[in-house]
Amino acid sequence: MEIIKNIPEMRGVLKKHRRNDQVIGFVPTMGYFHEGHLSLMDIARQKSDIVVVSLFVNPTQFGPDEDLDRYPRDIERDESLAEERGVNYIFYPDADEMYPPNFCTYVKNTELSNLLCGATRENHFRGVTTIVSKLFNIINPDLAVFGQKDHQQAIIIKRMVADLNFPVEIVLGDIIREEDGLAKSSRNVYLNEEEREQAPIIYQALTEAKKLVEKGERSAGDIKKFIYEKIDSVEHSDIEYVEIVEDTMLKSVRKIKPGCFAAVAVWFGETRLIDNVILL
Ligand code: PAJ
Repeated sequence: MEIIKNIPEMRGVLKKHRRNDQVIGFVPTMGYFHEGHLSLMDIARQKSDIVVVSLFVNPTQFGPDEDLDRYPRDIERDESLAEERGVNYIFYPDADEMYPPNFCTYVKNTELSNLLCGATRENHFRGVTTIVSKLFNIINPDLAVFGQKDHQQAIIIKRMVADLNFPVEIVLGDIIREEDGLAKSSRNVYLNEEEREQAPIIYQALTEAKKLVEKGERSAGDIKKFIYEKIDSVEHSDIEYVEIVEDTMLKSVRKIKPGCFAAVAVWFGETRLIDNVILL
């Protein structure tokens, strides 16, 4: 496995693989790997000859009061975990490499960026679509793997690829969870002991809601209320949103239809957790 820090070198090595008709699979990340990231690398490994993982804590997707500076980092641990999963290259640029002086061109989805997580995280998805476009242009992968954990992000990336004709197949990986159901996240390390004990309520509420839908419940309002009240019942939770939306344009629904999912963002102290489940 090689670690590559600059753009021309990354382009150069991949050119050789492309000339040999090798399929290039790509997993974009911000590092501090857990089983969620590693499962995406496994998918890329199965589907491609060469696996490239990018590791870049992207400043443009963090708001001014967000956790850019304290976002957890451990490149040495990440290196050995990626190597164990058969990754060929880690693209590890610094901020100046990706955002040189006078950078001022962005990619933005005008419809989906302000919904759900975007309602409170202004410019977050603009930062995501911009960096992912740049990475696609540098790596030029045949396929790229994203997690369902960030369901809105995955939908926005799929939309971007279709709208802007990026020649890349988007593959989605299932949400990987802790034993108690909490979705794995690099940010889980911020939780204190009490918050960590209560955080699995999110997944419990979502799975119980899904069971209600399986039994025939179709009112989005009632399901939303159920999820809200369940999560709200633990002391340290502070709900940002509970929404039930369809999976193309993220429109709120009144009646639950196939493809609808429930998405939540919940604060536990200083930590913002997101999760989602397909309801039908
Ligand atoms: P990051 O949060 O590091 O996540 C990288 C990828 O791992 C994303 O596709 C995310 O959905 C996936 N992932 C995270 N937790 C997961 C879990 N528990 N199960 C399965 N997949 C999981 O998402 C980003 O970085 C950035 O926004 C990025 C796309 C790299 C752009 O900067």
